Amino acid sequence: MVIPAPRKAVQDLAPYVPGEQPQGAGWTKLNTNENPYTSPKALAALEGQASQALSRYPDPLAADLREKLSQIYDLDVGWVYVDNGSDQILNLIFRAYVERGQTVAYTFPTYPYYEVWAHMQDAAIKTVEPGPDFAVPIDALAAEQATLTAISNPNSPTGTFTPPDQIERLAEQCAGLVVVDEAYVDFASASALPLIEKYDNIIVSRSMSKSFGLAGVRVGYAFARPELLEPLWKLRDSYSVSRPSQAIALATLDDYGWMRKVCAEIRERRERVAARLAREFPCKVYPSDANFLFVEPTTHTAADVFEALKERKVLVRYFRQHGLERYLRITIGTEEEMNEFFKALSEVLKQSNVPTTGGTQ
Ligand SMILES: Cc1ncc(COP(=O)(O)O)c(C=O)c1O
Repeated sequence: MVIPAPRKAVQDLAPYVPGEQPQGAGWTKLNTNENPYTSPKALAALEGQASQALSRYPDPLAADLREKLSQIYDLDVGWVYVDNGSDQILNLIFRAYVERGQTVAYTFPTYPYYEVWAHMQDAAIKTVEPGPDFAVPIDALAAEQATLTAISNPNSPTGTFTPPDQIERLAEQCAGLVVVDEAYVDFASASALPLIEKYDNIIVSRSMSKSFGLAGVRVGYAFARPELLEPLWKLRDSYSVSRPSQAIALATLDDYGWMRKVCAEIRERRERVAARLAREFPCKVYPSDANFLFVEPTTHTAADVFEALKERKVLVRYFRQHGLERYLRITIGTEEEMNEFFKALSEVLKQSNVPTTGGTQ
């Protein structure tokens, strides 16, 4: 018997490695950029699900949810797409727009899933070097004239924010599709959203996992002119957003003011944590407009700090990827979680069996 082989692209694929979801209690989990809070309206909607028609399929068009989004963002509902998390949306965009051998461009480092999706399309990948402090190199990206140019804004894992006028320059210069992944935009000061009416080639993708605190619910949305969204409607699984997910997302959008308040709180804490890290610990902290910080320890290796924190049940993100070995990404959690993090970090740096690199900064 011959076991059927998958496509060559799948055989060769190095899959995306998601952040660890630790089992058991007592963890301070600062590794996957979740929001530590949930809207009370989301919890009430979850409880309400017990009486819902779970034996019936959900609305395939997520009409109520899209209507609500169109009101909040002041768009016609045809410009709004909803799916099972923004990963699903981005995946569909790559599938819909990139043919074998066509080019996909992005900077490094950025969201590693772009590479996976580009590989799945057998695309030619152009990775463009960032500027100082990981600034996204807009003109160099545009110079690639890729079929699809992806930009995470703010970028993950660095937190770098690219102002909308630079995204506009990218859209202006690119003949191909520009995908602006705004999973973290609610923690930043501006969005590329107004550009979708001015340019024919921009899709803006958003997530409810971060600012809205619904990572476990899996809802993402995208904004673009209807012609750009149409291929996604053709490709998607019709019932991809479950009935409970639609209800919880809708209730959370009703609590929009709650989201703004939580984001303001996290932003303010991010600045305090960044200042304390820079003051008290030997590291470089990169400027961030997201709900996380990108940090480069200067006297210890990032790998050792990561392991020693983990032994103390504090989980941050360490990427075992070539080029990212020197960095840690730390999600901004609650005040208590950040205190746990600082307590563990000072123990780690005092501990004699965590080797230093000999750095002096
Ligand atoms: C840059 C970026 N884009 C998209 C996503 C996916 O988010 P979602 O939970 O909506 O699939 C993430 C998740 O970590 C992310 O960091």
